Amino acid sequence: MAGRLSATWRPVPKEDWEVVWRKDFEPVTVTAGITIVPDWDTTTSAPTLIRIRPGLAFGTGHHASTRLAIRALEQLGCRGARVLDLGSGSGVLAIAASLLGAARVVAVEHDPDCQGNFKDNLKLNSLPVVPQLVVGDVLEWTDFDCDLVLVNISPKVVFPILEHYRRTNSRASLIVSGLLTDDQSRLKAHCRSLGLTTRALQREAEWLCAVVERRDRQPPGPAISAGEID
Ligand SMILES: C[S@@+](CC[C@H](N)C(=O)[O-])C[C@H]1O[C@@H](n2cnc3c(N)ncnc32)[C@H](O)[C@@H]1O
Repeated sequence: MAGRLSATWRPVPKEDWEVVWRKDFEPVTVTAGITIVPDWDTTTSAPTLIRIRPGLAFGTGHHASTRLAIRALEQLGCRGARVLDLGSGSGVLAIAASLLGAARVVAVEHDPDCQGNFKDNLKLNSLPVVPQLVVGDVLEWTDFDCDLVLVNISPKVVFPILEHYRRTNSRASLIVSGLLTDDQSRLKAHCRSLGLTTRALQREAEWLCAVVERRDRQPPGPAISAGEID
């Protein structure tokens, strides 16, 4: 074998790894009204404060796709709505929906490792409506009898979900996140072929979020116009 490996040893300065780790979870200001804080934060305040215990599940607010979905949720509004959160991870979107006045929240997640974190996070927040968690594959989900669907997953999952939704009589609006700006034209073409509109598209860095609705849906909910890019 060509080449030789050599190694040297040097002492690493002693660090308090708990402090170092916690620094990665600073509060996240999502909108003027909504902030996500780690569970140990007792000082930050906001009109709507979401408490999350950083754990194995995705969804601390540090990813743009989560923030975009929450911004769209706030702008679209969900007061009194029946909300379905597909790919719930930490439960951050389900919690946001409950705090924003949803009448019912059902969350679906296939990773059993997320369950504990999801339940912990529900307890950390004083929720008007407690989201129900269903452990299962969203690609097998067929019950779209609701008003609003939240999906922050990859295009590989988002695109088939749009087809499943379209096969039902549901008139729910969908907030789809987890897409890249490069996916924009494919998303629009896919939606057009299904008789769906992409009513609002917003981005943060290379991440894209859209509100998708049936073309024949009426009356439309409040329009999201701020930051629209289509
Ligand atoms: C990007 S994370 C989003 C988490 C959270 N909703 C948020 O917005 O931050 C996507 C989540 O979807 C879950 N997921 C991916 N594919 C899934 C599938 N086919 N069925 C159910 N959950 C799925 C992942 O395990 C992960 O928790």
